[in-house]
Amino acid sequence: MSLPSPLAVVPFVSVENMMRLVLAIGVEEVLTALAAYIEEDFRRWDAFDKTPRVASHSLDGVIELMPTSDGRLYGFKYVNGHPKNTRDGKQTVTAFGVLSDVDSGYPILLSEMTILTALRTAATSAVAAKYLAPDNARVMAIIGNGAQSEFQALAFKALLGIDTLRLYDIDPAASRKCARNLAAKGFDITICPSCQEAVEGAGIITTVTADKQNATVLTDNMVGGGVHVNAIGGDCPGKTELHRDILLRSDIFVEFAPQTRIEGEIQQLAADHPVTELWQVMSGHREGRRSASQITLFDSVGFATEDFSALRYVRDQLMQTGLYDELDLLADPDEPRDLYGMLMRAAGPAL
Ligand SMILES: NC(=O)c1ccc[n+]([C@@H]2O[C@H](COP(=O)([O-])OP(=O)(O)OC[C@H]3O[C@@H](n4cnc5c(N)ncnc54)[C@H](O)[C@@H]3O)[C@@H](O)[C@H]2O)c1
Repeated sequence: MSLPSPLAVVPFVSVENMMRLVLAIGVEEVLTALAAYIEEDFRRWDAFDKTPRVASHSLDGVIELMPTSDGRLYGFKYVNGHPKNTRDGKQTVTAFGVLSDVDSGYPILLSEMTILTALRTAATSAVAAKYLAPDNARVMAIIGNGAQSEFQALAFKALLGIDTLRLYDIDPAASRKCARNLAAKGFDITICPSCQEAVEGAGIITTVTADKQNATVLTDNMVGGGVHVNAIGGDCPGKTELHRDILLRSDIFVEFAPQTRIEGEIQQLAADHPVTELWQVMSGHREGRRSASQITLFDSVGFATEDFSALRYVRDQLMQTGLYDELDLLADPDEPRDLYGMLMRAAGPAL
């Protein structure tokens, strides 16, 4: 069989190449660069097709498709969320994604996105916190010390100067893993025996737990004035982390309200409860943090533009790093309408 033609080939970033790319550039450098891409795309919000992601729910999890386009490029991510998976040695969240050229509809990148999702989620949280967290915050509590947690810590270090971490997980082994992974990164780290103790003195509280139910990871008494809550783990119908009373005392910031009202912490509130979309703050239409005593809440669920931004970033690194494979993905007959002929010619003269 002949080699695939240039039109047949799509750059593919495997998990191995994603790891090599991130390590070559540096984790904090990648988080900082991703944050810039994500913010740039939030600032041109009107350019994007926006729709709540398409979710297929089952008893133990969800599989979602997250599409968007700016009219020039189209991107989508396939992502799952299965909190029970870690019991079987599998990830809670796995993902891959595609970036395409709108003009021809041809894919121009296929990439692993399990690692990229952790990076983009952390970068998005840190970008939001730049506008919402108290200026002097140096201490962050991280509740839930699983796959996403180290990425969150490093993004907040790189973008906000967080230097002290207070960790809590219902499974102490997860906290020990997180502390071990971050040991040489310049943090002062305390593993706490309870959530209540973890939030003490923290200017930022990140909740990043996985549980397929309405959990109350933070109770109302744990969140005092002036704190920024970065709530990551409540991202599905019937899956929340915060007590409703915290929401009622907070100014709430979301990615794309129609999606967050279905999936976020605010599913606990009336459908018209006031929220501010992040793009409004980033583009100066609405205020972020207004006072030292205000409680700000980023009700994060993850939105398609963040994945689009992340794929854009990865694509921009490909030529200089060469860290991709060429995937024979698109059938490319010599004559575009002779797809069948291409198939028959591949069989050779014997058939
Ligand atoms: N908002 C987003 O954009 C976004 C992106 C990625 C993942 N997520 C969500 O973030 C969450 C965490 O993802 P992950 O990949 O780190 O999962 P993970 O399973 O690797 O880790 C979750 C951790 O939470 C701990 N935990 C569960 N209940 C807890 C509780 N009540 N108190 C303290 N700790 C508790 C578990 O022991 C586990 O260590 C998931 O719910 C996932 O859906 C959101």
